[in-house]
Amino acid sequence: MSQEETFLGVPCQSTDGTTQAKNKSRLGLIVTGVVGGSLVALYAVTAPFVAPALRKVCLPFVPATTVQVSNVLSALRARTGRLVDIGSGDGRIVIAAAKQGFQASGFELNPWLVWYSRYKAWREGVYRSTSFHISDLWKVSFAQYPNVVIFGVPQMMEKLEHKLASELPSSAKVVACRFPFPTWVPVQTVGEGIDTVWVYDAKTFKGQTRTISEQSQQSQL
Ligand SMILES: C[S@@+](CC[C@H](N)C(=O)[O-])C[C@H]1O[C@@H](n2cnc3c(N)ncnc32)[C@H](O)[C@@H]1O
Repeated sequence: MSQEETFLGVPCQSTDGTTQAKNKSRLGLIVTGVVGGSLVALYAVTAPFVAPALRKVCLPFVPATTVQVSNVLSALRARTGRLVDIGSGDGRIVIAAAKQGFQASGFELNPWLVWYSRYKAWREGVYRSTSFHISDLWKVSFAQYPNVVIFGVPQMMEKLEHKLASELPSSAKVVACRFPFPTWVPVQTVGEGIDTVWVYDAKTFKGQTRTISEQSQQSQL
């Protein structure tokens, strides 16, 4: 009969080596599980941050500076109602706007940033006047928002001009952070350098922008 030593009830030594082999394979399984689990967790956290770089238009998470946020709020000082931040990142613009009395929403592709934004809105006491959606900005309509904020990249601004011009009501105001729209004429600029924001009036730009269908009709003539 073989003699076994146990540690916390787990056999750890055997004269014939069978238990030792079993323990080694159990340890191997645990190590594989821990390493595999950690890699999956690391992938799940980092992939949404890396994914924007792999899209046709790369719009990475670069949070607005404090001055930029205050420029946005000052550009919309006289306004009320619903506001949307397109690509809302960690929710800082949405939360700051909600504190100014807006019913503010964010649309963001990265689920981690959306969950974090919801947590931050709850912690800062504006959970009821904010909403955050995990959505692709090109797949939702912004028709219900009279106040729109976008911190985009130059490569996407022309396409966004057409989308917003066809969706927004004439009463809408659009604020672009850091990069202006290519053809719209701003009614106001606030701040300077990287913190500059450009303010656009839908009454003006709806007349300036030809919709995508108008453009394709034109090119068929
Ligand atoms: C430059 S950051 C701006 C973040 C925030 N608006 C701010 O000013 O602090 C752009 C954000 O858009 C998000 N984004 C990129 N592509 C997107 C898409 N197709 N739909 C929605 N959000 C997108 C990125 O994950 C990123 O958080």
